[in-house]
Amino acid sequence: MTNLFSPFSLKDVTLRNRIAVPPMCQYSAQDGFTNDWHQIHYASIARGGAGLVIVEATAVSPEGRITPDCLGLWSDEHTAGLARIAASIKAAGAVPGIQIAHAGRKASANRPWDGDDHIAADDPRGWQPIAPSAIAYGENLPRVPKAMTLEDIERVKADFAAAAKRARDAGFEWLELHFAHGYLAQSFFSAHSNQRTDQYGGDLAGRSRFLLETLAAVRAEWPENLPLTARFGVIEYDGRDEETVAESIELTRNMRKGGLDLLNVSANFVIPDTQIPWATPAFLAPIAQRVRNGAGLPVASAWGIDDPQVANRVVQDEQLDLVMIGRAHLTDPHYPLTLAKTLDQPRPTWVLPAPYAHWLERYRGAAA
Ligand SMILES: Cc1cc2nc3c(=O)[nH]c(=O)nc-3n(C[C@H](O)[C@H](O)[C@H](O)COP(=O)(O)O)c2cc1C
Repeated sequence: MTNLFSPFSLKDVTLRNRIAVPPMCQYSAQDGFTNDWHQIHYASIARGGAGLVIVEATAVSPEGRITPDCLGLWSDEHTAGLARIAASIKAAGAVPGIQIAHAGRKASANRPWDGDDHIAADDPRGWQPIAPSAIAYGENLPRVPKAMTLEDIERVKADFAAAAKRARDAGFEWLELHFAHGYLAQSFFSAHSNQRTDQYGGDLAGRSRFLLETLAAVRAEWPENLPLTARFGVIEYDGRDEETVAESIELTRNMRKGGLDLLNVSANFVIPDTQIPWATPAFLAPIAQRVRNGAGLPVASAWGIDDPQVANRVVQDEQLDLVMIGRAHLTDPHYPLTLAKTLDQPRPTWVLPAPYAHWLERYRGAAA
């Protein structure tokens, strides 16, 4: 029976197990560039045994950053630092992935530990956010975005395609488009944030158009033999959930036809006032399974799936193909080794760096 430690193959890529580290912003970059913090963070986590490590939301343009401290991939100069990170993830035996993103109306914010709110409009650190319509998110993010023109839409699609090409040049083997969490693409899909009257709004086809066209632009740049995936919120928890999930499955089916290989199923986070069942472990897994069956493609998901038995069960029950485990990796970068021990599974195929291997293998049993 397939379990958490079974390998997973997609296109020409094989993960050593079903444990994936989802993108987690570090808010520690300057002008979009990586530094020692990112290098150490990603290399340590990759050495911990996960099959896939996805680098945090990396902006396709300066205006697409959530905060001024987010990573970027809007120029060729950003490639070298990310290439070192991709190489260190791969050297540790994990597949290197990256999420490329545009934050839309949630852009131009302070870091979570500096307030998690919009930077004041007159503060030179900030910038004018853009979105499908001039509708603010609300609460801590009150700034009204500029409604995008058709030229803006063309430019952002081209930015995604260029960033995808740079991601490949940097050696990443798994690409995730950030279509979730109320950022730009998700806000095109949701009627809460998209009130456009042109071909990019209105009915399901109109609200899907930006996502499908962005996918097509990226597909043309990203190699056919490597996984092209997206993270997408399929449910808002706003009381209209059946309709949203049905529409999301329809869009996912169309994305599969457009060349999508896997969906990382998440929540929408388009509006602040929702009823998300945070206390239920793996609350998104049954919904992800509906997407998997309804759209006919493999799925991953995160949010509270770090308990060993729960993580193993969602794979055994064919709810998820991959389990995304985020925060547990921040407290223990070797969390997959802990999972293996708890579940009485063999240790993940582990690439031991020579300075460890010398002591752990050559002198195995000799130490006190
Ligand atoms: C510090 C931090 C940064 C995050 N940044 C991103 C991000 O860049 N992109 C994204 O899609 N989700 C992001 N998330 C959400 C995580 O990918 C993940 O869904 C979340 O942590 C829930 O999984 P968990 O319960 O295993 O931690 C972030 C979460 C945390 C804790």
